[in-house]
Amino acid sequence: MLSIVVLISGSGSNLKSLLEATENPLFGAKIVAVGSDNAADGLAHAERFGVPTFVVSPGSFDTRENWANVLLANVNHFRPDLVVLAGFMKILPANFVSALTPNLINTHPSLLPAFPGAHAVRDALDAKVTETGVTIHVVDEGVDTGPHIASATVPVLADDNEHDLHERIKVVERELLVATVKDIAAKKIHLPSLVK
Ligand code: GRF
Repeated sequence: MLSIVVLISGSGSNLKSLLEATENPLFGAKIVAVGSDNAADGLAHAERFGVPTFVVSPGSFDTRENWANVLLANVNHFRPDLVVLAGFMKILPANFVSALTPNLINTHPSLLPAFPGAHAVRDALDAKVTETGVTIHVVDEGVDTGPHIASATVPVLADDNEHDLHERIKVVERELLVATVKDIAAKKIHLPSLVK
């Protein structure tokens, strides 16, 4: 059974889908803890499933590295096989990434390498692309630059605004994240071989 720590910053709908998927014993993975950089609404999903939570806020530390070391200690306490960033909106410094990669994955709401960063949906709309999507990738020390694991396309509609487009992306994103974690648990995806 693959054990997972999920990190979130917001509403946690991707986390909720993963928690629901883990209810099926055939899924092959369980979420052992959920962490956040803030008192995120999404932590309530973990609590509802009886999964422990932790919050490590960067504002309580004098450097990003000190923050990340404490975040890492909280993650490592649960000895996960995999750490999933599911809407975790802080950039993680090298000390955190190097300790966990390649067993550290992120879901991002664009077809990378297009539109990395915190405003992927807005940037896709501004660029007037006709399709965007979601990419799940291994986290490396860059921003949304790590090796791709899976991606899916979502059309941009003529009257889309940022909220509507992001909600449609998230429908696809939740499914892709669940399927990807399932494949990692089943060893159909081997993360170390993606990192060269
Ligand atoms: C997702 O689209 C994620 O890729 C992005 O923020 C969104 C988080 O959604 N970075 P949720 O908190 O899982 O609902």
